[in-house]
Formats: sequence, C-alpha cells, structure tokens
Amino acid sequence: MIQRSDPIGVFDSGVGGMTVLSALRNRFPGENYVYLGDTARLPYGTKSASTVERYAVNAAGHLTSHGIKLLVVACNTASSYALDALAAAVPVPVVGVVEPGVRAALATGARRIGVIGTEGTIRSNAYQDTLAGRAPLVEVEATACPLLVPLAEEGWGDHPVTDQVARHYLAPLLDWGVQTVILGCTHYPLLKPSLQRVVGPSVELVDSAKAVAQTVAEDHHALISTGDTGGALRIELTDASDRFLRITRAILGRDPERLELVDIDQA
Ligand code: DGL
Repeated sequence: MIQRSDPIGVFDSGVGGMTVLSALRNRFPGENYVYLGDTARLPYGTKSASTVERYAVNAAGHLTSHGIKLLVVACNTASSYALDALAAAVPVPVVGVVEPGVRAALATGARRIGVIGTEGTIRSNAYQDTLAGRAPLVEVEATACPLLVPLAEEGWGDHPVTDQVARHYLAPLLDWGVQTVILGCTHYPLLKPSLQRVVGPSVELVDSAKAVAQTVAEDHHALISTGDTGGALRIELTDASDRFLRITRAILGRDPERLELVDIDQA
C-alpha cells in the first residue's frame, strides 16, 4: 500500500532531471527522493521511440523496487514517447514534463511559441500536439537541438561555444518572431545563461521544472507528506560519471549525501 512517507521517484537519462528534482525539493523539502540517472544509456534523445520506451520502463521498474509513491518522468524524450507505457507498467501515479511545460508556456500569453528539444521529443510531436489541443490559435515552431545535451552534460551553461551553437539553432525561431521558447529538454535549463543571451531579454524561456512541482501539488496532494518525512535524497546512476557529480554539486550547492552505481538491466 502506498504511504505518504514513501519516497518520490524521479528519473532522467542523465543530469538534466536534476533541474526538476531541484524544483520538487524546493516545493516539498520534507519529502524523500530517489533519483535515477540512466547515464549508461544517455542520450535518450537520439534513440528510436521503442528503445526509449524500453529504457524508460526499465528505469521506472527499478525505481518501483524502492517503494516509491509517485514517479516523476524528468525527461522530455521519455515523457513524449513512453508516458502511456509507464503508466501501464508501474503501480503508482506517473507525472511527465510535457503537459506542465505547455501550461507554463501558455501562461506567458505568447501567440508565437517555439519549442526546442531533443530529436526524439521534436519528432514525437508531443509538444506540438499538446499546444494545438490546448490553444489552437497559438502558432508553434519546433526545432531539434541535438548538440545542446552534450554541452549541458559538459557544464558549459555559460560559454561562448554554447552561445554559438544556440545561435545556430535559434536563429530561425528569432527570425520568425518567437515570443516564448519552451525548453523542451530537462538539460536545457542548465544552459540558461547562454540561451537567454542569444534570444535577448524580450523572449521568455520557459521550462517545466516549477510547473511539474505545481502539477504534483494540485493533482497528487493526497500523496504529499503533511509533516517532515526526512528530506533524504538518494541518487543512483547506471554508469559512473564525474560530470554528473560536478554538475549535481553545482545544482545542490554541496555533495550529494548518497550516490550509488546500480545495474538496472535485471529490473
Ligand atoms: N533530459 C532529457 C530530456 O528532457 C534528454 C537527454 C537525452 O537526450 O538523453 O529529453
């Protein structure tokens, strides 16, 4: 039986989902969390739909073995391709990042919304379809930015090389007159200094992290602990990664208290 004191499970292919985890911890600091970074199989964004679905179900199965009460899919690629499969595979509620991201973008009131994401996320049309369903009059342009994930994993969030790459990807959106850009990959908020410099101050960059925390608060409040259940964070990776540790340190402002290497192939 699900208990309020059970941990919340969060996963991504790598360090990007830490941006969502951070927002969850800010909003619900008393909760316990298990974060899985599937670093052995990163990137998800260049893989086919069926491979992403298999990886995501596998990762979720592993988190379920920790007795989680809620699964947050902190990866746009997995949310785009595998949300239904995940909901069918795990015995707890599942929250993805696409719907919350769309809600946050529409709240800006923009009439021209750009979406940037991995090849998989853009190819899936998850954002384009969700935006069209929610706001048919809003114009949408979507662009895959495959080089941005490696730059985020490298920790180059404020770097001339990232500026140059971002300029290349974003120029067509800027020429088109984009007003709000959805950062449709949980790695991209790590690149915000470079991305904001490139789009300029009048274009709003929206990510789903805070909106995911809001969705959890609204749709799953019955699962949220009323008191402090520990606030512990356990991080698990499928492959050792110094980069992950370096960036996580920067996000958390300290070393993670618990970081383990896991083999999830048998999950
Ligand atoms: N952070 C993942 C996302 O939001 C993508 C990273 C990857 O390509 O693995 O889509």
